[in-house]
Amino acid sequence: MQFFTAALATAATFAVAEAGYKGFNSGSTFSTGANKQQVDFAYEMKAAQQLPGTNGAWTSMRLYTMIQGGTKDSPISAIPAAIETKSTLLLGLWASETPDVFQNELNALKKAISQYGKAFTDLVTGISVGSEDLYRKSTGEVGATPAQIVDYISKTRAVIKGTSLQGKPVGHVDTWDAFVNGGNRAVIAAADFLGMDAYPYYQASTVGGNGIGNANATFWKAYTDTVAVAQRKPVWITETGWPIVGDTIGQAVPGAKDARTFWQETVCHALATGVNMYYFQLQTSQGKAVNPDWGIKGAGDLLNIPVRYDVSC
Ligand SMILES: *[C@@H]1O[C@H](CO)[C@@H](O)[C@H](O)[C@H]1NC(C)=O
Repeated sequence: MQFFTAALATAATFAVAEAGYKGFNSGSTFSTGANKQQVDFAYEMKAAQQLPGTNGAWTSMRLYTMIQGGTKDSPISAIPAAIETKSTLLLGLWASETPDVFQNELNALKKAISQYGKAFTDLVTGISVGSEDLYRKSTGEVGATPAQIVDYISKTRAVIKGTSLQGKPVGHVDTWDAFVNGGNRAVIAAADFLGMDAYPYYQASTVGGNGIGNANATFWKAYTDTVAVAQRKPVWITETGWPIVGDTIGQAVPGAKDARTFWQETVCHALATGVNMYYFQLQTSQGKAVNPDWGIKGAGDLLNIPVRYDVSC
């Protein structure tokens, strides 16, 4: 991993390394199913910026859809929230429904560009066409084929052509093993970047087990394996985390102590290398408990409740 060695070699590269985007994943609904509104997204963004021990570094948010919850194709209200809070956005277009629904995603993207202009587009770090669609398809769930994702990427490029979003990287988010699967190579060829999701917690069949003691090594093996097939495209970390509450899977036990260990070993290492990082997640159980619960903060008033574990590096 020449990239890491170089990034860590001198203090002088630290400022550059610090430049990676740091953000949290955010769905369009709460765990209750209620749709998030602008005020809710803005609240999450402020809570991320004010996370203790992080010097205001967590200023980005990854979205899964361009569509505001409860509407057909209105732009998601995370956009005005980002403008309001000076946050950046990794946009997402949901690609695991029918082509009609994907067209709604494209329509919402078009509307957002004309409605908010450069105030919006200047904040965009990238555009992800899809999220774990290849993985879901491989498990028999509703997903998308490689050919569909390639087609959707090209449709997205056509929409942003000649707009102030032109030039922003258009990529795809999937699990690391979906990228490593040679059958999905065409998606990598079509993408400007790969967003890699990797959860050592779930990897019970990993050699050496999936306990916290093996989690850092398991994560970086997933990363290097993805880089090896990435056709020189940048690999972003778009999801990872360690749950605080939930089921024990193999040797992986949810809890704040192990979540802190994962943060310190894996997340802090990622930040030091400057890789773009979207963590899962700031708050999971808002209004309703879920299993697993990945939240750095538990249920309650996000801005005012304490963190469950130290997130300094
Ligand atoms: C975590 O993995 C990275 C990448 O292999 C390595 O550089 C680092 O030393 C590891 N951290 C710990 C605490 O083992």
